[in-house]
Amino acid sequence: MQSLNIIGAGRVGRTLGRLAVGSGAYRVVDCLARSLASATVAVDFIGAGRACLALDGLQPADLWLLTVPDDAIAGVAQALLASGVVRPGCVVFHASGAAEAELLAPLRAAGAYVASLHPAFSFADPARAVEQFAGTMCALEGDAVACVALRDFAAAIGARPFALAPGGKAAYHAALSVASNYLVTLTDMARQLARQGGVDEQLLPALLGQLMQGSLANALSMGPQAALTGPVVRGDVATVARHLAVLPANWQPAYRALGERTVALAGERLSADAQQRLLALLQG
Ligand SMILES: NC(=O)c1ccc[n+]([C@@H]2O[C@H](COP(=O)([O-])OP(=O)(O)OC[C@H]3O[C@@H](n4cnc5c(N)ncnc54)[C@H](OP(=O)(O)O)[C@@H]3O)[C@@H](O)[C@H]2O)c1
Repeated sequence: MQSLNIIGAGRVGRTLGRLAVGSGAYRVVDCLARSLASATVAVDFIGAGRACLALDGLQPADLWLLTVPDDAIAGVAQALLASGVVRPGCVVFHASGAAEAELLAPLRAAGAYVASLHPAFSFADPARAVEQFAGTMCALEGDAVACVALRDFAAAIGARPFALAPGGKAAYHAALSVASNYLVTLTDMARQLARQGGVDEQLLPALLGQLMQGSLANALSMGPQAALTGPVVRGDVATVARHLAVLPANWQPAYRALGERTVALAGERLSADAQQRLLALLQG
């Protein structure tokens, strides 16, 4: 059985710790947070381990999970190196979506292998997260030896690991933000426009939800270009002009930028003439 230390025992640390213990393949040794109260809650939730406050008192472990906030990872890695508790051959990893494993590079001086393992999952509440985590995609990058160990770790906790190329984390995380966060922003824009058009508040979820879910399902199954419908791909310049005439001024840049991107996506489905007329309108 492999041993695991958790530094940063918040939402992600608690969830992954409990899943690791539950797998029967890992034992949690030490659990560190900024306050002893928080570390104790984590240990209780995980069902194993010792609540700790000081890095230099930590016991050895095969795996070290750094689930501190992103901006604390580099500092904790330096402090961990200085504490001398990291032994050669162990794996140290963080769970940030945007940061590379290279944040942990100083720990190679102690003989550690470093990596990042990012679960594409929203850990709002650890108890719910434990229930819902199975099948979560986990992006892995870093030292080859660490990635092999973390593929096993991910599989044991019920995740689906996949490899990312070095240097790809920022673009990978931007993809998730566009897919998840901006979809929500677009939903809000659509709701406000529908209200402006006089649609009853109670009808908004059904009206927009049906359309959005259908479009998303089509885009994912058919591919974005084939799934595209609406005035832009029809070359309906007059309708796009009518939209622009009623859009609030502060939304014009976003609508125009998405429109231009949609013209590019439509590609050969639009005649060259229609493309030019749409772009002239959107860029005007
Ligand atoms: N939340 C998500 O949905 C999600 C999803 C994927 C990846 N991640 C990544 O997972 C990591 C952790 O996120 P989280 O949401 O679990 O954060 P969190 O709930 O805020 O937990 C952070 C933990 O780190 C501890 N901590 C903060 N600064 C520290 C320091 N300097 N030294 C030692 N411990 C410190 C905190 O201690 P106290 O408890 O005492 O305050 C807390 O236990 C981040 O890299 C994040 O990007 C998060």
